[in-house]
Amino acid sequence: MDRRDSDTLVLFGATGDLCYRKIFPSLYNLARRGVLQVPVIGVARAGWNLEQLADRVRESIKAFVPSPDQDALARLIALLRYHDGDYRDRETFVALRQALGDSQRPLYYLAIPPSMFPIVIDHLGTTDAPRGARVVVEKPFGRDLASARALNQVLHKQFPESNIFRIDHYLGKEAVQNLLYFRFANSFLEPIWNRNFVASVQITMAETLGVGGRGKFYEETGAIRDVMQNHLLQILALLTLEPPVNSEGESLRDEKVKVLKAVRPVKPDALVRGQFNTYRQEPGVAGDSRVETYAAMRLEIDSWRWSGVPFYLRAGKCLPVTATEVVVDLRPPPARLFGELGPDYPNYVRFRVGPDVAIALGAHAKKAGPAMEGREVELFVAQHEADAMDAYERLISVALIGDTSHFAREDEVEAAWAIVDPVLAGGDAPYTYTRGTWGPGEAERLLEGSCSWHNPGAEPQGWTRSCAPSHLTMGKFAP
Ligand code: BG6
Repeated sequence: MDRRDSDTLVLFGATGDLCYRKIFPSLYNLARRGVLQVPVIGVARAGWNLEQLADRVRESIKAFVPSPDQDALARLIALLRYHDGDYRDRETFVALRQALGDSQRPLYYLAIPPSMFPIVIDHLGTTDAPRGARVVVEKPFGRDLASARALNQVLHKQFPESNIFRIDHYLGKEAVQNLLYFRFANSFLEPIWNRNFVASVQITMAETLGVGGRGKFYEETGAIRDVMQNHLLQILALLTLEPPVNSEGESLRDEKVKVLKAVRPVKPDALVRGQFNTYRQEPGVAGDSRVETYAAMRLEIDSWRWSGVPFYLRAGKCLPVTATEVVVDLRPPPARLFGELGPDYPNYVRFRVGPDVAIALGAHAKKAGPAMEGREVELFVAQHEADAMDAYERLISVALIGDTSHFAREDEVEAAWAIVDPVLAGGDAPYTYTRGTWGPGEAERLLEGSCSWHNPGAEPQGWTRSCAPSHLTMGKFAP
């Protein structure tokens, strides 16, 4: 890894919503920790000046940081510069180059609409951007496989892959990093982490919020493009990849690509799309919109480790809770000592990857008493406190030192698009579901075996595991 730190941070889209909600609070925290010490040049076409940018930063910190440290805020404000200009005008970039002075290694952060990426990237390349420059690209990275490939080509004309940082903020989350850590920092999972022991895997990303003020954006996106192609497939990759050969970022990314390439592209009949009942009344949404605000899919991985194991992924807006959980259901033991054991046998590993961090192991233990009867128990480890570091803060701090491990590589993004590409055209109208429910009942038909979708709870322990009744309590060995 190239560890030479970036010497300037250039924020395109400095007056926009992403900077206001996510990037400024993260920069404040980095300044507070003493990690951010380089100039921050905000770029926008707003006709602003430095004082207006500084006011915007102060407002953002007031809105999103409880009891901010005024010294740290002053340190951040002192690092700010402002550069106004039209992204379509080459002169903006010539002047920016001058404003960069003798900076050798700027980090350009593109917090701008995707339609502007190619224009800005080309201008950066043709105005003598320094060879050591790095670029952070926000999601969505393309809107299908073909456009992602085209965007990769645009980027590669100006930047080498090692200097490109494609953001998926889930990769910066404590709980998502913990998936990888928990898998490979312990030896007890590896022997069972395969088709011989795992019956099925469910990944649910539920959100109570609707599309907020983002109706127009969502109309062009939908749940599959917005969160499944990226956040959910990243979680799937971390759960299923082979052990990386070492702790280098590239080794991890090699394994992610390998497993994503082994996932079969989704067939239309393995997908159920839904739309919450009031979506078409949202501002910016068409009265006859067919865009999905919910999607559930069944995936298969063609590999020695996972062949035959169904992976069920679902994501939706306006669901009953906000939580992301993974449940890995294990097969029942082969010997029937305590009666018939159905596939509903409660042996599982559950990872809660948002909004808090929890890991739980589900098992069956004997009920106290004379009969050999069982009861479900869950061994539960939780970390309730909010992420000590926000995902954006973590990602910006590692991008500044040139560490690409927690960013998506070119082939990784393309492999993920290839999985969902066959179903992006939309097809039939989505099923309607009522706000505040778990989405269309039709999603049940994707599941094999006797379990339904496991629903995360608002609290880490409040989840619902719904499977057909177990036959475990038969007291064959009663004295
Ligand atoms: C974003 C999506 O990438 O992730 C949003 O565009 C979604 O639609 C958000 O709400 C969820 O992120 P988090 O960190 O709140 O789980």
